[in-house]
Amino acid sequence: MTPPIIGILGGGQLGRMLALAGIPLGFRFRFFDPSPDACAQDVGALTVGSWSDCDALRQFARGCDAITFEFENVPTASLDAIESIARVQPPRIALATTSDRIHEKQFFQRCGLAVQPFADVQTAADLALAVATVGTPGVLKTRNLGYDGKGQRVIRDARLASEAWSALGSTPCIYEAFVPFDREVSVVAVRSKVHGTVQFDAYPLGENVHRDGILHTTVVPARIDAALVSAARAHARVIADELDYIGVFAIEFFVADGVLIANEMAPRVHNSGHWTMDGAVTSQFENHIRAICGLPLGSCAARGAWNAMLNIVGRVPTLDDALTNSESKLHMYGKAARAGRKTGHINLHASSESELRAALTRAEGV
Ligand SMILES: Nc1ncnc2c1ncn2[C@@H]1O[C@H](COP(=O)(O)OP(=O)(O)O)[C@@H](O)[C@H]1O
Ligand SMILES: [Mg+2]
Repeated sequence: MTPPIIGILGGGQLGRMLALAGIPLGFRFRFFDPSPDACAQDVGALTVGSWSDCDALRQFARGCDAITFEFENVPTASLDAIESIARVQPPRIALATTSDRIHEKQFFQRCGLAVQPFADVQTAADLALAVATVGTPGVLKTRNLGYDGKGQRVIRDARLASEAWSALGSTPCIYEAFVPFDREVSVVAVRSKVHGTVQFDAYPLGENVHRDGILHTTVVPARIDAALVSAARAHARVIADELDYIGVFAIEFFVADGVLIANEMAPRVHNSGHWTMDGAVTSQFENHIRAICGLPLGSCAARGAWNAMLNIVGRVPTLDDALTNSESKLHMYGKAARAGRKTGHINLHASSESELRAALTRAEGV
């Protein structure tokens, strides 16, 4: 029997790690990406094509047993081109909802999640009204295509708002209140349907620290009250059921004054879940593959008391340096160094928080 083939839209590190998790289960992978340098080609055949090339997309989809995406800015029209050929999961509605920051926040509100005050900015007049209504400081973000802090500007002075909007290309934006958060946390969850029966699970919450808008570290478990952990899991369940979601997803929250404020959702495996490769019974990547194939989920439980993930950004350390710490687990993506670009990550675990923090400091020195 030929092994089932999974097609992945996007050929970056998330696709690569999905394949690295799915190959031991007996799957084969192929990737579609506009870039001939896509790093997932080390682990499966790469089709290079533009998202608007429906013929190339259809050709790619033929022969795939399941299709998923590792990049949330895949145009929904690209899914439309292939959905009659192979099943695509997570569902189109998840991509459509989360690829627009206004739709995403409105969806959170409908699902009962608290969000920071926000306003839609289409014109210069909207911008002035938004800044007057929401106040300063605030964050102006492009509605579409932002990631890793790209496409956003903090506005501390209303007089500088139009300058910030021009810098973002005067495109449709969301203007939202700046949240003076105590912590940032994320819930990574997974939903599958096995012969029609829903399975849902969530990993222990991660506490995330960003630098320049890019995730720097995730520490698990997040240091928040058990009631907030339960609330985050419950929110994830509501959202997943509402979307009839299949696969792994993440919701990022700010914790401010003991309240969870939903910031954004990723309809895919997430950087704050990379620790699960070494620290959970089943990694987020394996669970995503299981879910999109209608298979039973593996446990999301952590294997040790404390886990952490440290991103490697903008540089490629030598293996001699990166492997100095025998306690750390290195995952490089096969990408060239470029400013602000994630090239790999390091996973760590320890039996106490203080040991974990000490190990993180040692790993940061590499
Ligand atoms: N409204 C806000 N208040 C405070 N910090 C923010 C706000 N929006 C974004 N940030 C900071 O910038 C980071 C990246 O923003 P985010 O909305 O998650 O966009 P993306 O991850 O898609 O680039 C957040 O994790 C947070 O640290
Ligand atoms: Mg984010």
